[in-house]
Order: sequence, then C-alpha cells, then structure tokens
Amino acid sequence: MIVYLNGKFLPLEEAKISVLDRGFIFADGVYEVIPAYGGKLFRLSEHLQRLENSLNSIKLPNPLTESEWIEILETVIAKNSGTNQSIYLQITRGPAKRNHSFPEQIIPTVFVMSEELKSLPPSTGVKAITCNDTRWQNCDIKSIALLANILLRNQAVETGATEAILLRDGYVMEGAASNVFVIVDNIAITPPKSQFILPGITRDLILEAMNAAKLPCKEADIPVAQLEAATEIWITSSTKEIVPIIELDGRTIGTGKPGRVWSQVCEIYQDYKQRLYSND
Ligand code: PDD
Repeated sequence: MIVYLNGKFLPLEEAKISVLDRGFIFADGVYEVIPAYGGKLFRLSEHLQRLENSLNSIKLPNPLTESEWIEILETVIAKNSGTNQSIYLQITRGPAKRNHSFPEQIIPTVFVMSEELKSLPPSTGVKAITCNDTRWQNCDIKSIALLANILLRNQAVETGATEAILLRDGYVMEGAASNVFVIVDNIAITPPKSQFILPGITRDLILEAMNAAKLPCKEADIPVAQLEAATEIWITSSTKEIVPIIELDGRTIGTGKPGRVWSQVCEIYQDYKQRLYSND
C-alpha cells in the first residue's frame, strides 16, 4: 500500500511520525473517509467542506488548498489497487512538546491511505443494540478522538450485534459510526443536524435521492418510543451505504427481514449514485 505523509508518497511500512505527534498524545486531529468508485472520488466537495468545518471547529488552518487535496487524493488512488477504494485522510496538530495548550509553531501532520472497497453483497440485515450516548457535545466534528465510539461499538459487538444506536436525553442520535433512519407510517425519518450527530454525507445523499424520487422522508427528532413503532430501521455510512437493522435489543424489527422501503431506497440510491458519479 502506498500512502501519503507530509508531502511524500511512500510504502505504508516507511510512513513514520513522531511519538510526540499531538494526534498520538492527545487525539488532537480530524479525519475524513471518502469512497472512490472507478477511481473517481465520490461527493468530494461535500467531504472537503466537512473537513474544512471540522478543521475550523478545532482551530487548525487547512494546510492544503482544494487543488492540492485533489491531487494528493487522486495520486493515492492511482498508486493503490482496487476499482473501488475507501480513502482515509487525517490531519493532526503535529509534533510538539506535550502541553495541552496549542504549540506556538504548528507543523500539522497530513496522512492519507487507501483501502480496497469490496462491492457489498445485498444486505440480509444486522442486529443492533441501544446505548446511552456517552460521547461529548461536539459530535459534528469528525474528530479522531473516537474512544467513546469504540467502546460503544465494542459493547454492541460483545453482545453479537453490529452497531450501537446512541440515545441522548430520550432521543435517537446516530450509530457509533453511522447515521440512523427509522421508518414510521411509511415515512423515513432521520434526526436533524446538530452538535450531537455527525452530518453524514450518505445521510444527505439518501434525503436528496428520496426527495428527487418523491418518496416521503423528513428530518425530525426521534423519541426513543418511536423505535418501537418503527417498521424499519437503517444505519448509513460512506463505506457500508444503507444497512437494515432487523433486530434491536433482541426485538425483531418489522418482519425480521430487510424492509420494502429499504429495497426501494437502495435501488434509487444506487441509480442516483451512478448518475452523480458519471456526471461529476
Ligand atoms: N464513519 N456518524 C458517525 C459517528 C460516523 O463515524 C460516520 C462515518 C457517520 C456516517 O457518515 P458518512 O455518511 O459521511 O460516512 C455518521 C466513517 C465511515 C468511519 O469512521 O470510518
């Protein structure tokens, strides 16, 4: 695997950073995960905009211009195998003597790697559990500080489930690494954007595709009780797309199989994706 690190393209084994890097010491950094289909970066401007927002939130100036980002990302894709790839990029506040305050001179660390994105078989659905959202109040920042997400996801995995659905003050927020949709009375509902969820690129694309197809959907708060009324629940992300939850906390959702709206939306989403991706 060829990766990018601070101006150089090099084999993964040769990519080294200081142990004093503030990413390592404090998780002081942000990241993005961008899918690339057939070598083309998908929804790139949306991902770069979210990156900009994350960087602004942590007061770290973007070290690269948009065209520099595009050149680096495209080079990483070209140097790695896989028709479809998942690009991971991370920026930290760089190496400095350990001190919570920002260093006077900041030399950010910029890292990009790629992983082959295998085409997803049609989902048969997964199990999930609900958990109290123990994360901080800035979940809209795509921060590399993911310990709470990791512990919550691990709690799900330990019980034989795939994802943890996070609840805060009696409302559904998102998954440990995904956004959430519920289907109630045939309407797809996802929580509105706030400081408590990551503004998912896939989430936005689903809403856009459903609106374009005139399928009922809305952004609204989801009280926990609505999970009981939901005939379908989905989790969404750039790498997993749309995955139906067929069992939540041991209770069967809908028929216990991927639902009708899910199949319909998957098809629309794939068509829409194909169209966007050929127009980009
Ligand atoms: N995670 N919410 C959280 C907390 C996430 O970590 C993710 C994605 C999403 C979905 O966002 P998007 O549709 O833009 O991928 C929502 C990535 C894939 C990850 O951490 O690997």
